[in-house]
Amino acid sequence: MSAQTQVRRVTAPDIRARKGGEPIVSLTAYDTPMARILDPHCDLLLVGDSVGMVVHGLDSTVGVTLDMMILHGQAVMRGAKRALVAVDMPFGSYEQSPEQAFANAARIMAETGCQAIKIESGTYAADTIRFMAARSIPVIGHVGLRPQAALADGGFKAKGRTDAERRRVIDEAVATADAGAFAIVIEGVAEDLAREITETVAVPTIGIGASAACDGQILVTHDMLGVFDWTPKFVKRYDNMAERTDAAVAQFAREVRDRSFPSEREVYTMKRSDG
Ligand code: KIV
Repeated sequence: MSAQTQVRRVTAPDIRARKGGEPIVSLTAYDTPMARILDPHCDLLLVGDSVGMVVHGLDSTVGVTLDMMILHGQAVMRGAKRALVAVDMPFGSYEQSPEQAFANAARIMAETGCQAIKIESGTYAADTIRFMAARSIPVIGHVGLRPQAALADGGFKAKGRTDAERRRVIDEAVATADAGAFAIVIEGVAEDLAREITETVAVPTIGIGASAACDGQILVTHDMLGVFDWTPKFVKRYDNMAERTDAAVAQFAREVRDRSFPSEREVYTMKRSDG
């Protein structure tokens, strides 16, 4: 028997049971070292298709492929031992039919070992969620601002500003929950709408740019760490990694150029005195 302590992984029913209870902590992750850092703090790590914009420099998530999501999902699974890992299904991999969605979701789960998948769930998606959930795929829905629809919508725009749009977002959330999703991400809606959805659906809501009136929160990790010089208005920055990285790299460059770059022996002594 291994002497290592087994860490119990958070499951989809655990997240489902958090409705109205302890708030769900969630961040995006795309690689192994960051997943290791985030894992002890988070209930849910999302391998978001935001990876296309955040890591690969794409203008939208539309160009993200199934192979990219699987590669990043595998990397995150190597780093996360406790948090539930959900992988986003990319644009074009689930909209055609429930059968297409099931086949691609099963491939993501088999090849990454992740615990759930997430799809952007317009009202058209209810049949697909029902089909997958009935076949043992744990599904998270995503309503409100749906980044994969940004090209059709004319940009990344907050949702629910008109009565009709508000009704549509509520209908999407209800259809998503009724179809069997175990949680729903709500993106880019005002507080009163987030509250109404959260009070209406039986599954936990996880907000991004959707106020504190949700059952949990998710942020794009690179946004909250201040990796970019621009972040959406709603994002609180908890660090300024771009500036700190710039300072560290500038110091390295200075040390190389002025030949003060330390010898291995000096580095070893510095590390030892660090503790
Ligand atoms: O892809 C992503 O990072 C997401 C979050 C914005 C929830 O879907």
